[in-house]
Amino acid sequence: MDAILVALEDQSGLAEHVARRLGCPLHFAKVSEYPDTEFRVSLQDPDQFAGSKALILQSTYAPVNDHVMMVSFLAHELKNAQAKEVVAVIPYFGYSRQEESDIKGKPGQVEVIAKLLESAGVDALITVELHEPFIADFFSIPVYNISLIEVLADHINRRFSSIKQDICLISPDKGAQDFVYGISQLLQVGTIVFTKERFGPSQTRLVGKTGDCVGTTAIIIDDIISTGGTAIGVAQELMSMGYNNVYGYFVHPVLSGEALYRLAQSPFNEMYVSNTIPVFKSHEGIQIEVFDISDRIATVIEQLV
Ligand code: R5P
Repeated sequence: MDAILVALEDQSGLAEHVARRLGCPLHFAKVSEYPDTEFRVSLQDPDQFAGSKALILQSTYAPVNDHVMMVSFLAHELKNAQAKEVVAVIPYFGYSRQEESDIKGKPGQVEVIAKLLESAGVDALITVELHEPFIADFFSIPVYNISLIEVLADHINRRFSSIKQDICLISPDKGAQDFVYGISQLLQVGTIVFTKERFGPSQTRLVGKTGDCVGTTAIIIDDIISTGGTAIGVAQELMSMGYNNVYGYFVHPVLSGEALYRLAQSPFNEMYVSNTIPVFKSHEGIQIEVFDISDRIATVIEQLV
């Protein structure tokens, strides 16, 4: 592949795995911080980018605003270095849960992030399981949203092969239902979809459920786990419905605030999360296994770039 890969940091190892899989070296941009908290992003060897296709590999996890600005500055600097095309590969896209404004029918804050990246010089975006696929419409550049339906189906199939007739896939809210149905169709297992009401950035309440599933092992699947409130509420409800074991699959481990502490007190046996975001903290009482999605990302890059 004749693209140059550049990251800002790679604490989850995802960028390195993608680079290795593509057989390309991974370059790092330098980030310096001014005493008043401004950032300056510098390329180590700017001349090499002249006339090139440059791929930025960087999720915009917490601190979200810092990472968004760093990616924007990097795109701008790559264009300053005469890169012909800049493709941003942002596996976890921060602000993607802010697709709607408080003013009915108006776009949410994520539209500003889309415009910022474009005006900074990003020519195309590759992301993973974007929280709301219609966010792509806020961009005027091409957006490719990688689906992990097959990756999760394959992982669940291998992990739960001996008890497949006993598992039930759980969508903790309406937003995750298409994702969960997609996986259940591949695995040929039943599903339950919960309905939740949100009454604040971190407060939710279960208000109903649909679906029919007979099993003893429940697997909750969602694109994001942040405070853990949604997943824990559903896990507790499943225990009261008679499930013996509750597992979780979450694509983007945002794991904010006291999430790990709360998960450690919850009914979860084990959780599986992808490496779109590094998991820095650990807590006794909750087992979190990270699965690598670099192969899927590298395959899409090879097809598109
Ligand atoms: C929102 O609809 C997402 O799909 C997740 O359900 C949500 O972000 C989870 O947030 P929390 O872990 O804070 O309940």
